[in-house]
Amino acid sequence: MDVAQGLQGLVDEVRGSFGGEITTLRRDIHREPELGFDTEKTARKVLAALDGLPLEIETGVAQNGIVATLQGAGDGPTIALRADMDALPIHEETGLPFSSGTDGKMHACGHDGHTSMLVGAAKTLSQDSFRGRLNGKVKFVFQPAEEGGGGGRVMVEEGVAEGVDQIFALHLWPGLPFGTAATKAGPIMAAADKFEMEIKGTGGHGAMPHLSADAIVVAAQIATALQTLVSREVDPVQPAVVTIGEIGAGSAFNIIPETARMGGTVRTIDDDLRRRLPERMEQLAKGVARGMRADAELDYTFSYPVTRNDPEAAALALRVAASLFGEERAVETAHPSMGGEDFAFFLEKLPGAYVWLGIGDVSGLHTPQFQFDEEILPQGAALLTAIALEALSG
Ligand code: NI
Repeated sequence: MDVAQGLQGLVDEVRGSFGGEITTLRRDIHREPELGFDTEKTARKVLAALDGLPLEIETGVAQNGIVATLQGAGDGPTIALRADMDALPIHEETGLPFSSGTDGKMHACGHDGHTSMLVGAAKTLSQDSFRGRLNGKVKFVFQPAEEGGGGGRVMVEEGVAEGVDQIFALHLWPGLPFGTAATKAGPIMAAADKFEMEIKGTGGHGAMPHLSADAIVVAAQIATALQTLVSREVDPVQPAVVTIGEIGAGSAFNIIPETARMGGTVRTIDDDLRRRLPERMEQLAKGVARGMRADAELDYTFSYPVTRNDPEAAALALRVAASLFGEERAVETAHPSMGGEDFAFFLEKLPGAYVWLGIGDVSGLHTPQFQFDEEILPQGAALLTAIALEALSG
């Protein structure tokens, strides 16, 4: 049976049946953003929205995560659909009537949208007419702590990937035309690692630099030298990013500080390069520092691995999106994003695909002005629904 052919009209059906509810849910979640693993209230809202559906519900997964399982009509494979639930430590400046009620916290990465789209898919697939078409099980995975906490890793450690055959996730994507789905086989998001560096010099009087080793000048040289790793040591056709996002030193205008510190992120796609860069960063930083009578210590953390799509799963998502939205709105993207994503931990264990869903030219992810047209919610819910129908059509 080719499910993809019967998908015309699904967006209208989802919008008509659940559009209002999932928009209200999205606004409720948006108003009360929660960070990291502390998504207790968000989880409660999700549970309330799932109440009454024929789901087997597991709570407290990775602290405040939820796994809700729908048994379809047949005994075929199990697929999982995953949404992230956490917000960011950003002060909202959208002016929306349902803006964040908490200073310094905001849903600036669209995870409120992802969560309500997944609820929409759960509601749709739970209807007898859809459930009867599922030859297997669907697990709806609501994950905390995508933004730096590695909630996906914890969910995998707690066994969420066990017994699952394929997994899919969506992310709202600024800059991609509205209502367009895009993905690719292989790497779709970069490995995202982080580092801190401490530069140790010798402090002194601002007027007597010859009696000190100025940690600020050393830090400035190191910051510049680190950029040559990408420009001079990485194959020019290989993507890599070294960004220093924080730098700090000093206490007064006329004192040469003893120490300086910086923090940054490294993004790579190639695994060998990912493993090689920390050693080269350390050698370079120490070399520069020692040449200037100082020292540098690197503290490097491997965080999120590359998010790598399974070719068949990516093809399935694109095929479904083309049937649902039209060929021109299902795009095979040429390049991965250098952003990081902890869905990578699921894709290390399972075949699956991570799909971008376009929200057009809006303010970027992680900005205080980030917002999107809520018409995308029924479209995303329909896409997740259609992926499940296609994956379990056998
Ligand atoms: Ni995100």
